[in-house]
Formats: sequence, C-alpha cells, structure tokens
Amino acid sequence: MSSFRSVVRAVGGYLPEKIVTNEDLEKLVDTSDSWIEERTGIKERRIAAEGELTSNLGLKAARQALERAGMDATEIDLIILATSTPDNTFPATAVTIQAELGITSGAAFDLQAVCSGFVFAMTTADQYIRTGQAKNVLVIGAETFSRILDWEDRTTCVLFGDGAGAVILSSVPEDGPELGMEDSKTKRGIIASRLRSDGRYRDKLYVDGGPSSTQTTGFLRMHGREVFRHAVTNISDVIEETLETANLSIDDIDWFVPHQANERILVGTAKKIGLPFEKVIMTVARHGNTSAASIPLALNEAHEAGKIKPGDMVLLEAMGGGFTWGAVLVKW
Ligand code: ACO
Repeated sequence: MSSFRSVVRAVGGYLPEKIVTNEDLEKLVDTSDSWIEERTGIKERRIAAEGELTSNLGLKAARQALERAGMDATEIDLIILATSTPDNTFPATAVTIQAELGITSGAAFDLQAVCSGFVFAMTTADQYIRTGQAKNVLVIGAETFSRILDWEDRTTCVLFGDGAGAVILSSVPEDGPELGMEDSKTKRGIIASRLRSDGRYRDKLYVDGGPSSTQTTGFLRMHGREVFRHAVTNISDVIEETLETANLSIDDIDWFVPHQANERILVGTAKKIGLPFEKVIMTVARHGNTSAASIPLALNEAHEAGKIKPGDMVLLEAMGGGFTWGAVLVKW
C-alpha cells in the first residue's frame, strides 16, 4: 500500500521559432503538401536554430512549468528527461538542465524510450513519488529530431519536428484531502500506468549509428508501414489494460492526449477504443512528430486553451521505436 500520490502541479512547453512548412520541404525532396497531409495530417513543424540544443528547449519548457507552479527550482529533487536526441552521448542532458536551473541537490537523469519516452518518464517519476523517494519531480520531454534526420530521405524527413514540454509532479499524502476534490470518484493524481516493449521489432524504427557500433550519430530509419500496422493494436491493448487496472471505462475519460505521430493512427485508435473525437487533443498538424516532447507539448496547448482542468480524467499514450508503448491515466 503506497503512502503518496503524484499530482500534476503545472505544465510548460517550448517550440523553436523556425517554422518549416510542407511547401518548404517540396523544395528539398520529391514530395508534396497533399501527400504529407493526406498520409500524416502534418502541415508544418518547428526546427531548432543552429546551436539551439535539446537542453535549451527542455530548459525553457521547465522554466515555464516552474513559473506556473509558483515554485523555486531548488524545490525540485528529481529531474527525468525523456529524449533520444541528447546534447552529447554523456553526461545526461538532464544534468545540464539541472545546472542551468541552479539545482545542486537531488538527482537528474535521461530516459530513452524514443516516442514513448514521456509515458515511461511519467511512470518512473510516479514510482519515485509513491515510494517516498522524491517530492517534486520535473518530467521533461525534449527533442531535436531534426539533427538525426536524413534530409534526403523523403520517407522520414517530412514526419518529425523539434520541441519540448515539461510537467511538474508533486507528492501528496495518499489519504489526505486534495484541493477540494474530496467528493470525486477518485482523487487527483496518477491513477494507473502500464509500460510495454518488444525488442523483436527494434529494426523497424531505429538510428543507424551510435557510439558503440559506428562511432557516429547516425540517421533515423523507419519501416513506416510496419510501424503503422502495429501502432493501433498495441496502443489500444495497453489503454484497455490501464483502464482495467483503474477499474474505469473509456466513458470516464475527459481528454485523450496521445503521442502525436500521425493523424491516421490517432483517428484509428480513438475509433477502436470508442472515444469521441472531440476528446482527442491534436497538435500533429502544427508540430509534426516531436517524439518524447509531443505529449507534454499537447498537454501544454490543451492547458493554455483552457481545455484540461483540475479534476478531469486524462489519458496519455504513446508508441515508439523498440517497439515501446504505454499509457498513463491521470486525474488532472
Ligand atoms: N512524399 C511523396 N511520396 C512519398 C513520401 C513523401 N514524403 N514518402 C514515401 N513516399 C512514397 C513511397 O516511396 C511509395 O512510393 P512507391 O509506391 O512508388 O514505392 C509511396 O509513397 C507509398 O509509401 P508507403 O511508405 O507505403 O506509404 P504509407 O501509406 O505507408 O505512408 C507513412 C507512409 C506516412 C510513413 C505511414 O506508413 C505511417 O504513418 N507510418 C507510421 C509511422 C510513424 O508515424 N512513425 C512515427 C514514429 S513511430 C511513432 O511515433 C508511433
């Protein structure tokens, strides 16, 4: 029986200034706005400026979340950064963010689960809080996928973008009253989560380089159809499992915030799990696929638009390279 729950205190986000439209990409590779939009729903994406690193994006998102929470950075005792595009192979990019925030206590580390990174990071943070090992966790998803794209490969370079989002989770006593939500069916906080991976599919979406194999960074490679084929089934299964764990049904969900890979995957998943499309938060048209950053960026937009409010039941899910996939259910 755990003694603490992980409650969302605040959310923040940051997108690089430079917008690259589908029309811009037509000048780079043999593609078209209509092909990209029909197959993916993407219209444009943000690309980090030269010298703008994953840590810079993550730091800006983190600062916004801290400001909104009214917290001093030194109250944070754990930073988990979900990223597959760290500034360097090591040290972890999370420690750069930690230092920039002026934090000298607690711990900071990177977590790598590609597009599922944020769901894995939220679940990990929740375990630290539930066991009393951390009080205030800064969970960040930050990526500069533009740096690992082969800009001559039209099958991948049109799909991704750069950005960062952050969520602050704080520990509250499991049985304590929670911000006037006593009458609710369940209290605020992370209710349940489920993580999965299956390494048999590691060659379906990967980077063809690395320190131990080629001593180069490498480029992203993907068998798009194979990924697509597994996506809806894997995601729907893990959502069902998560709802079952929480003893809830799809009708209890107020907002669905999926990883923003592809509009067709999102529409297919919503249909399969029986969720009305008005409850789906969609940013893929303007952000593209920002991997581990896509869920916190979507949360940030939904928060800024006044959609997600305290007490709402929010379902997060993602699938990515590995394959990895998972879902998190949180009462906002
Ligand atoms: N512009 C124009 N034509 C293109 C482009 C492009 N950018 N890319 C590929 N094509 C061509 C192909 O060369 C092929 O041509 P051919 O028939 O002459 O050989 C044709 O379009 C069809 O290619 P497919 O790859 O079969 O196209 P598909 O309908 O599967 O769409 C896509 C490709 C969008 C990648 C799709 O498979 C998909 O969405 N997969 C999911 C992958 C995904 O979202 N990954 C993100 C990371 S994983 C995650 O986050 C879940």
